[in-house]
Amino acid sequence: MGETRKGIALLGSTGSIGTSTLEVVRRYPERFKVVSLAAGNNVGLLKKQILEFKPEFVSVLNEETAKGLRKEFDIPFGSGTEGAVEAATLDKVNVTVSAIAGAAGLLPTLASIKAGKDIALANKETLVLAGPLVMEEVRKRGVNLLPVDSEHSAIFQSLSGHRKEDLKRIILTASGGPFLNTPLEDFISITPEAALKHPKWSMGRKITVDSATLVNKGLEVIEASFLFDLPAEKISVAIHPQSIVHSMVEYIDGSIIAQMSVPDMKGPIAYALSYPGRIDSGAKPLSFEGLSLEFMEPDLKRFPCLGLACEALKIGGTAPAALNAADEVAVEMFLSGKLPFTGIHRVISEVLERHKALKITSIEDVLQADKWGRETAFASVSAI
Ligand SMILES: NC(=O)c1ccc[n+]([C@@H]2O[C@H](COP(=O)([O-])OP(=O)(O)OC[C@H]3O[C@@H](n4cnc5c(N)ncnc54)[C@H](OP(=O)(O)O)[C@@H]3O)[C@@H](O)[C@H]2O)c1
Repeated sequence: MGETRKGIALLGSTGSIGTSTLEVVRRYPERFKVVSLAAGNNVGLLKKQILEFKPEFVSVLNEETAKGLRKEFDIPFGSGTEGAVEAATLDKVNVTVSAIAGAAGLLPTLASIKAGKDIALANKETLVLAGPLVMEEVRKRGVNLLPVDSEHSAIFQSLSGHRKEDLKRIILTASGGPFLNTPLEDFISITPEAALKHPKWSMGRKITVDSATLVNKGLEVIEASFLFDLPAEKISVAIHPQSIVHSMVEYIDGSIIAQMSVPDMKGPIAYALSYPGRIDSGAKPLSFEGLSLEFMEPDLKRFPCLGLACEALKIGGTAPAALNAADEVAVEMFLSGKLPFTGIHRVISEVLERHKALKITSIEDVLQADKWGRETAFASVSAI
């Protein structure tokens, strides 16, 4: 009998989303088969994953690492973008979990869509950088693009069974991160250690810092705009420190439909993998005992990066790609002690101001804007 299990390509297997995905997959050996893994440099963890999940192909960031692994394991190894593309396009893959961090996730995800695979999308940068191109390919190939970002999963679930013309707006919730109540005058002395302590979610370093500046919420606004085909005016953000309501949809009759659960990424990952059905993800059930939920408007003076990302969405074309590139550089510089926390929004703002946005007509336009954004951000960091 042929393979009846869903074949999974897991890009970013050693990361936060990657390991949570494997926790879900581990519970359902009769349903899911890991066909391929792609990771960066964490070879120790990757080796354990290879032994446990027995993939048929594995890719790593560097060719040197691949060479070493070929000596130890009797399966093919690839490297770099090419390797990740191969992992995401193998015949036996039915769904690609796209969970590489940053712009590096774009090309393998796009290749996977072109190969007709369904996508469980954690890598929001895929849509931030190349939303129009990616959505066009999704429509052309008829694949399912299933959101893993908890907010987008919540909206996807809250839209189900409703008519688009009845929608008034969507409301993305944000925890507000670790500095929601920090006095503004203390922002200048925020350290990487403090920024890496998220009050609600355990995530990779880049997205954790992005959640502290709230640029992450801005990237999610851009992601939502392409994913749900909505203009910026129909997307709002509400601060919700408890991270229980993962997002909401408001309809024209005033009804608001929300999705609630404990903050655990296994929930949206399991939903994306089992869609249109549901499975037990292993996340704890939500208890209403002593639960109180607060919502408030985001303060854009405190979190200017959120406003900048929304501005990039309104400018359109290559502006979000340039903004993302600036943020990736600025966060790296902040984490290595070369830029203060408050420098992040200054770098992004300068890059966005100087960027001459073009309509995206090809992937080259996107890669060019990404490269320009990085170079301009580096120059801007040196000037700060
Ligand atoms: N974590 C969350 O809760 C969460 C929620 C929503 C959305 N997301 C999105 O999901 C993506 C992943 O986030 P994360 O928190 O899981 O990040 P993470 O913990 O930093 O993991 C990133 C993964 O990508 C791999 N990687 C990095 N660069 C690579 C490259 N050039 N080629 C191949 N692999 C590469 C890393 O490998 P090594 O570690 O082996 O170097 C690691 O496996 C991001 O786009 C993020 O915005 C995350």
